[in-house]
This record gives sequence, C-alpha cells and structure tokens, in this order.
Amino acid sequence: MTDTKDDTPDPSPGRALGRKTIRPTLTPRELMTPTPDLAGVWKARVLTLFPQAFPGVLGESLTGKALKDGLWQLEALDLRRFGIGKHRNVDDTPAGGGAGMVLRADVLGPAIDTAMAGTGPRWPLIYLSPRGRPMDQALMRNLARADGVTLLCGRFEGVDERVLEHYNVQEVSLGDFVMTGGEIAAQALIDATVRLLPGVLGNASSTEEESFSSGLLEHPQYTRPADWQGRTIPDVLMSGHHGRIDAWRRARSEEITRARRPDLWAAYTAAQDDTE
Ligand SMILES: C[S@@+](CC[C@H](N)C(=O)[O-])C[C@H]1O[C@@H](n2cnc3c(N)ncnc32)[C@H](O)[C@@H]1O
Repeated sequence: MTDTKDDTPDPSPGRALGRKTIRPTLTPRELMTPTPDLAGVWKARVLTLFPQAFPGVLGESLTGKALKDGLWQLEALDLRRFGIGKHRNVDDTPAGGGAGMVLRADVLGPAIDTAMAGTGPRWPLIYLSPRGRPMDQALMRNLARADGVTLLCGRFEGVDERVLEHYNVQEVSLGDFVMTGGEIAAQALIDATVRLLPGVLGNASSTEEESFSSGLLEHPQYTRPADWQGRTIPDVLMSGHHGRIDAWRRARSEEITRARRPDLWAAYTAAQDDTE
C-alpha cells in the first residue's frame, strides 16, 4: 500500500558533473558532486529511479572526456527524493486494474518542476517511451542546438498520463521494443546529442560525412591490413584519387540506402527532385 501520510517531497537537486570538480584520478561517478550550472554549457538533467546508472557509458571515451572538460554537464535527479511518505513511495496500482505499477503524478510533478526550474524556452522536456516518436539524427541536431534537455525515465508500466498532458511532454522512443526502463534510451539520446556539440569530436567533418547527415547511410569503411582472410580493400580507396574515392563512396552510400532503407531512399530522392 502507498503511504500518503507525509507528502512533502524533498526537492534536493541531484548531483552534477562539472569542470569545477575535475580530478583526473577520480572515476566518472566519483566526479558527481553539486556544481552550479555553467553558463552556456549544454546540460542534460535526468529524472530517474536509478541515478547511479549515470554517467554510465557516457563517462567513457569522447563523451566522458567532454564531460570532464566541461563541454557539457549531466545531472541525475533521484525520483525517490520526491517520493511520498516515510517509504518515499513513487508508484501505485493502475486505475481500472491491470498488471504492474504506475509512477505517480504527485511524485513526478514536483520532480519535473525541480528539473525545469530556471530553464527557458530552448529546453525541451522529454519522456523516454516506446509510444514516442522514434529517435533520429534530426532530433539530435535540434537538441544539440538547445540550451539543454530534461529527460524523464519511466519504470514499471510507465507514468501517469496527466503528467504528460500537464507539462506537454514530448515522448521519444529508442525503437519498437519494450525495455524495463528509460535509462538506456536516455543515455543513447544524450550520447548522440553530445557528440554534435562544438568541440566534442576532434574531427568535426566526421559528423558531416556519417550516416544520416546527407540523408543517406554511410558507405563501407576499411583499414589496414590491406589483405585480411583473402579479402582486399577496394582498389579505388588505395588510388589516392580523391574525386574517384568521393564518387565511389557516394555510389555505395546510395546503393546501401536504397537496399536497406526504402523510407530514407524515398525521402532522399524526393529532396533531390525538389532541388532540380
Ligand atoms: C516496461 S516500460 C513500460 C511500457 C508501457 N507499459 C507500454 O506498454 O508502452 C517501462 C519504461 O521503460 C522505458 N522504455 C521502455 N521501452 C522504451 C523504448 N523503446 N524507448 C524509450 N523508452 C522505453 C519507458 O520510460 C517506460 O516508461
């Protein structure tokens, strides 16, 4: 049973990663200490029952280095802090019956108010949900142009619908399958967005040439050794002739996109027709 005697939420902010706390000997989790918002730095605020799952893989490699360098910030707010009563309950049984539990509106409301405090119009609020619009590169590009994003990670059967209506929450899906929680989807979204932020990737042109940037899937890539298991690298790539290499890559991109993703191919050819 849900205990409703003490309904005072604890709106303590989560713990953030930022450039003021950097010590290279610490692990990413150990770096999570309260920090002020750094002006002009893109920030992800994540509402989750599992704040310890962050930064997770985001603390590794390029996103991890960028986090340590203060190119972006991450704050994981523990939904449990906003729980009801001495047991900090966050969920209750579905109205109308049925299996599982639903995250309560009177828990999520104060949590969202806290996570959205001080944010402006360029700060979307997203609920990771299998019902949402599928994630794509256009979404990530838009998010990278925002000041930051608040991500609500569901658990159990999901969240009370009234919260989504009240805050006009955008629902975004990682794909047509059901996971146990929104945290992996949130990390996928953050990863794909952070790598588009200025200065995060060493070689900016790599985001211009990769899959989806021109509406096509990427061409095949090869590296040494030149001969592996009797398979060689296409001669044109070893020719040093940049014009021919570009033409070969474009042709392979078109071929792969046409074969694997008729939806992308149709949009690409329609866009080409429009520009003619
Ligand atoms: C078990 S799921 C709830 C599924 C929900 N009852 C339904 O049928 O749509 C629990 C949580 O995992 C997250 N989740 C599951 N699959 C997801 C997906 N494909 N994309 C994004 N989030 C997902 C959502 O936050 C969701 O609230």
